[in-house]
Amino acid sequence: MEAEIRALKARKNAVVMAHNYQPLEIQALADVVGDSLELAVKAKETGADLIVVCGVQFMAETAKILNPERKVVIPVLDAGCPLADFLTPDMIREARERHPDAAVVIYANSTAESKALADIVCTSANAVKVVASLPNETILFGPDSNLAAYVQRELPYKTIIPLPPGGHCYVHTGFTLADVEAARRKGGMIVCHPECHPEIQEQSDMIASTGGMVRGAAGEGEPWAVFTEREMASRLRVLYPGRVFYEKPDAICGDMKKISLADLRRALEREEHEVILSRDVMDRARLTIERMLAVGA
Ligand code: 13P
Ligand code: SF4
Repeated sequence: MEAEIRALKARKNAVVMAHNYQPLEIQALADVVGDSLELAVKAKETGADLIVVCGVQFMAETAKILNPERKVVIPVLDAGCPLADFLTPDMIREARERHPDAAVVIYANSTAESKALADIVCTSANAVKVVASLPNETILFGPDSNLAAYVQRELPYKTIIPLPPGGHCYVHTGFTLADVEAARRKGGMIVCHPECHPEIQEQSDMIASTGGMVRGAAGEGEPWAVFTEREMASRLRVLYPGRVFYEKPDAICGDMKKISLADLRRALEREEHEVILSRDVMDRARLTIERMLAVGA
């Protein structure tokens, strides 16, 4: 299977991009593994004819928006992100009417239509930098209310309004104070993703995107309790075999686990499932993603 996938990649001039939460056997066959921001940056740079995104729908959509003339496929069509579904285009339009002076910052974990209605997009790697770059005092920020709280804490001079108020990721909000206590008993550091509840963020030693965790874990150091999707700890163990990383066994993103090696092979062979978006949505969303890329990581 692996040899076939490698041969198909070469024959089709394809690039395989995988998120840090993908199963390790998929990561091992990918040309790029990274967080949402790194995947977006690399998607823009690729010269491949075919881009296969092993992740969830919004990641494949971002790759397509940045490569409108290339074929972008996702091996499993219904690999979505429940967080993205918290925010609808109507919510953004209504909030803009209520807060005409506010800027609208939309997290990458959102639909293409939501991105098209934003002023600028962000990921967890650059949310603080993106918001800090804006002149507006009031910021409508969605759909993750915990990431919004993190940005608010980092930038107290801004007024961050979460849109909608309770948007969240079920994987990250599954981390509790009992997990903090258990991690403290084991010793070492707690490193959490900013999608975790604010009280978990406050108890953590470091808050980082998945790419930030990869960079932050480099070198020697004490054990890490990794408060994000459990595959992240597996990836860190592969990258840094000398270090100890603990995961929470039931912190699983079901959608990230839908893609198998057989699905990847079929996606390369049949060039499916192609991401199709309207030209208008792509053009408007590209502007807001490119504004984010100009701000940087
Ligand atoms: P990162 O941008 O940190 O990879 O996060 C994406 C995500 O879906 C977190 O759950
Ligand atoms: Fe979406 Fe949460 Fe899965 Fe990330 S971990 S893709 S935010 S459901």
